[in-house]
Amino acid sequence: MEQKLRVGILGATGMVGQRFISLLEDHPWFEVVTVAASPRSAGKTYEEAVGGRWKMTTPMPEGVKKLKVLNVNEVEKVAATVDFVFSAVDMTKDEIKAIEEEYAKTETPVVSNNSAHRWTPDVPMVVPEINSEHFAVIEDQKKRLGTTRGFIAVKPNCSIQSYAPCLAAWREYEATEVVATTYQAISGAGKTFKDWPEMVENIIPYIGGEEEKSEQEPLRVLGKVENGKIKKADLPKITCQCIRVPVLNGHTAAVFINFAKKPTKEELIEKLVNYRGYPQEENLPSAPKQFIRYLGEENRPQVALDVEYENGMGISIGRLREDSIYDYKFVGLSHNTVRGAAGGAVLCAEALTAKGYIKAKIPQ
Ligand SMILES: NC(=O)c1ccc[n+]([C@@H]2O[C@H](COP(=O)([O-])OP(=O)(O)OC[C@H]3O[C@@H](n4cnc5c(N)ncnc54)[C@H](OP(=O)(O)O)[C@@H]3O)[C@@H](O)[C@H]2O)c1
Repeated sequence: MEQKLRVGILGATGMVGQRFISLLEDHPWFEVVTVAASPRSAGKTYEEAVGGRWKMTTPMPEGVKKLKVLNVNEVEKVAATVDFVFSAVDMTKDEIKAIEEEYAKTETPVVSNNSAHRWTPDVPMVVPEINSEHFAVIEDQKKRLGTTRGFIAVKPNCSIQSYAPCLAAWREYEATEVVATTYQAISGAGKTFKDWPEMVENIIPYIGGEEEKSEQEPLRVLGKVENGKIKKADLPKITCQCIRVPVLNGHTAAVFINFAKKPTKEELIEKLVNYRGYPQEENLPSAPKQFIRYLGEENRPQVALDVEYENGMGISIGRLREDSIYDYKFVGLSHNTVRGAAGGAVLCAEALTAKGYIKAKIPQ
């Protein structure tokens, strides 16, 4: 790419916004030129607005420190500065739905981390390795919005990324039932232990709205495009419990699974490690070389050892074994704010750019 695409981050001062800023430092295709947040932060420099809230382990990139924070709600003003935006604002669902559409209608593509549009029928919800063909519904969405280049694309919830990739890799064995318990990191709530001391040595058996997302969203990702909409898959039936655990980064899932066509353990492992998708075929800048790895040791995957696999963009699976009630059980791990949030959205944007959906607004 001769000239980088100009990117804005809506919600740039938050946990996910900061992750976008870190991941996009030195990105070969995208350059952060605009940061936007609530009216509380607007007018300050990014460095001032974030203040003591910088939660990344790497320092704040120099290139963004002096950018003046814009108000997310001043849509035209923000949109005029960028080719597309990433959205990670914390507003009500209705507000996010409305504002993301407003941005799309300014002919600014929106790649969103938020859940507001995940069930809008013509909005693709994509894990690029699994269902990048769902981007095709963007053409129908643009007709509905009356736009030529503006649209919304979303990525699914962080909780599903530790097991949904296995369902995709094992599709030919026709999973019928899945029982999953997720053990979710506190960064998924935008928190560190400093902001949430009650989580030290604690477990909280409730994460609002998370179980429904974990049960339903994999079916939409595994669904197909039909008449300009995404039709979700009927199977497998999925039931989940989502539990907050005292871990900073990394969602673990313990999963039981039944298949219509029961494979051998060797076949299941072979399908996982050989699973490749569009990002690997196109060698996209943020694509993990190996999307899913299998760890044979009894005590893996472990958050401390494995969460950063493939810079947080890969999935680690282990402990696959036959079960006495279900066909198999296994444990999966993924990085919730990288693969599960900002990194997954950056990979979506790279796929959208490679497929020609995101382009520079003014030909350069
Ligand atoms: N953390 C995760 O792993 C994760 C994963 C998937 C999805 N999500 C979703 O991503 C979104 C952001 O999460 P987060 O953890 O980054 O939240 P966060 O740390 O609380 O950050 C929220 C961001 O939204 C801005 N904001 C808040 N109220 C606003 C308003 N009324 N108008 C405009 N901007 C406003 C904040 O700006 P100020 O700094 O100016 O207040 C900040 O930039 C949430 O919807 C969350 O559910 C998070």
